[in-house]
Amino acid sequence: MEEKITEQKKRMLSGIQPSGDLHLGNYLGAIKNWADRALEYECYYFMADMHTITVRQDPAELRHRSIQQLAQYIACGLDPEKNTLFLQSHVPAHAQLSWVLNCYTMYGELSRMTQFKDKSAQHKDNINAGLFTYPVLMAADILLYQPDYVPVGEDQKQHVELTRDIAQRFNSIYGDVFKIPEPMIPKTGARVYGLTSPGDKMSKSQPDGCVFIMDEPDVVAKKFKRAVTDSDTEHCVRFAPKEKPGVANLMSIYSVVTGKSYDEIEAEFEGKGYGVFKPAVAEAVIDALNPIREEAKRLIADKAYLESVYEQGAQRASYIANKTLRKVYKKVGFYQI
Ligand code: TYM
Repeated sequence: MEEKITEQKKRMLSGIQPSGDLHLGNYLGAIKNWADRALEYECYYFMADMHTITVRQDPAELRHRSIQQLAQYIACGLDPEKNTLFLQSHVPAHAQLSWVLNCYTMYGELSRMTQFKDKSAQHKDNINAGLFTYPVLMAADILLYQPDYVPVGEDQKQHVELTRDIAQRFNSIYGDVFKIPEPMIPKTGARVYGLTSPGDKMSKSQPDGCVFIMDEPDVVAKKFKRAVTDSDTEHCVRFAPKEKPGVANLMSIYSVVTGKSYDEIEAEFEGKGYGVFKPAVAEAVIDALNPIREEAKRLIADKAYLESVYEQGAQRASYIANKTLRKVYKKVGFYQI
């Protein structure tokens, strides 16, 4: 009976690269949208460690960050009993399907990916083939699990759209092999901008304007204190992303962590100025992050528990992934053992 109920649930899948500590953009744009979904959906979340090596990494650090990220996923509310949590490199089907899908993806499609353009501009000395074919690995990550939804921030929408195109192309040749997934993008928080450069998305490459979920409260407070607001003389808290991008960014962060609407926020800070507003945003973020940071610290010390989580996760993920891979291998004509 229980099995049947599980089968009827819609599926959700997403991943994050363990290329640095998780930050507020990852949390508000993605993970916050994943937590508490397990009652309604069958959920798969992974550490995209294979994606991470498209940029040079220190091996020991990558290993450490992958496990730390697992601890942070759990601390953010992803219960491993209810969600399948795993490391991408523990499930070989990702690389295997990726190769097949490479043969169903066009050079022109990959050339249009904005993340490739951005990253190849940032890493001119290492524009490797993996950086170029990265979206195909991401398509494999997704399609293996036949998910209905892929909860991501706005910057990943283009990759999910390419995934849909690849799946549709494959299905049009071989029949209904892949489910066509939908991106699931939050209304607020889908694009969190850097606190010191509100024109760029928040990212670990600009650590001053980036709030990491493991930052201690005094560090978070300092970062918000230095947040760019605007240079006009109005000095009022008003949601106007074009004229006041820094203020709009702070308002959207405050809105997601407190659940207040922009109108309510404007009313709350009417006549109060940024000297009151910025510390209030900092405090709300600190309150949201405190329990996560403390729980993540506790979990990271429990290596045996984390090991049991990723082992069980890899097993459950492999079961589903291998089912899809076998179907694909058969369809394209690989001789079956
Ligand atoms: P990554 O690791 O860059 O980011 C992980 C998730 O965080 C979101 N995100 C943001 N959201 C709002 N504001 C920001 N400043 C911000 N920065 C990051 C991203 O949109 C993403 O949801 N290719 C993916 C990882 C990946 C993946 C997948 C995702 C690999 N395979 C399969 C979904 C499904 C990436 O590089 O995300």
